[in-house]
Amino acid sequence: MKDIILTGDRPTGNLHLGHYVGTVRNRVNIQNQGDYEKFYIMIADTQALTDNADRVDKVKNNIIQIAIDYISAGIDPSKVNIFIQSMVGELHEFTTYFLNLVTLARVQRNPTIKEEIKTRGFEKSLPMGFITYPISQASDILAFGTTIVPVGDDQLPMIEQAREIVEAFNRTYTPSEEVFAMPKPFLSEDKICRRLPGLDGKLKMSKSYGNAIYLCDNSDTVRQKVMSAYTDPDHIRVNDPGRVEGNMVFAYLDAFCKNEHFERYMPEYENLDELKQHYKKGGLGDVKIKKFLIEVLEELLTPIRQKRAECLEHVDDIYNMLFENSYTASLEAKKRLEKMKDAMGINYRKLLK
Ligand code: TRP
Repeated sequence: MKDIILTGDRPTGNLHLGHYVGTVRNRVNIQNQGDYEKFYIMIADTQALTDNADRVDKVKNNIIQIAIDYISAGIDPSKVNIFIQSMVGELHEFTTYFLNLVTLARVQRNPTIKEEIKTRGFEKSLPMGFITYPISQASDILAFGTTIVPVGDDQLPMIEQAREIVEAFNRTYTPSEEVFAMPKPFLSEDKICRRLPGLDGKLKMSKSYGNAIYLCDNSDTVRQKVMSAYTDPDHIRVNDPGRVEGNMVFAYLDAFCKNEHFERYMPEYENLDELKQHYKKGGLGDVKIKKFLIEVLEELLTPIRQKRAECLEHVDDIYNMLFENSYTASLEAKKRLEKMKDAMGINYRKLLK
């Protein structure tokens, strides 16, 4: 059996470089290898509302933004079903039954949820929809028979939760044939790509920290952001020895730079190791390495920006594509919903002789 792949993002802002190296680049590679049965990317608007209940417009406007980000970054809608979560109503039915298989204490131990509760100030007043979203996310994954979930690091606890639900379902209802496949995560190989730090040196690039470079940023913005990136505060004069660890320019070069970039933009060095050695020894200024990083990023972002400009001319076509895909996804989810109800013995029509 070939893999069924599903992943998704909340439409709360544009995709940034952290998303790109964390997961979007992998998705494009998987798509281009083409060795799968089905590939879905879900725009998780329902999940986005769990902490944006009063910001419907923000979520709504970001649906098309994120769809355009995907396509601009190389996702091909003829090979991947990009759909909208709220348009696949079956997902809620799965969630209702899955909620009975998980304890509140279990969700409260989820490290991603713990962190999100803190950053959103939900300690005092926690929306029920928010605390239960890992169960809804398990539905997103399980409803399609997903075997592979390409995601960033922070989503691992969600996949673990989905796996536990498969086990609990099988234990509780002992289905005679498999209803839900066991999903596995697919992560970037490099540690730096799994969690790209922010421009300010914070552990994570994130919209909420305001330390991100977006796929849709123009050249001037990228230049300004890179020029402001956190490097080594003790590297004051060019001749001072510099630190590479915790230096954002080197973090991003680790994630994005290939040897051929040196040939094109910095032929005096063979590769990143040589550049790092020189920086550590002293005699290499921050402006020089920042300019190099700008070249490397521009090479990546220029075609993405061009594709984005094309997409902006066809917004209605993209909406229509999303609506049609959501319908297809809903039919697919319905099939497994019936299987689930059969296994649970709650398909009451079957009582008729
Ligand atoms: N939680 C993901 C995010 O924060 C979005 C998401 C919703 C998702 N459902 C999913 C990711 C299913 C992978 C699989 O962006």
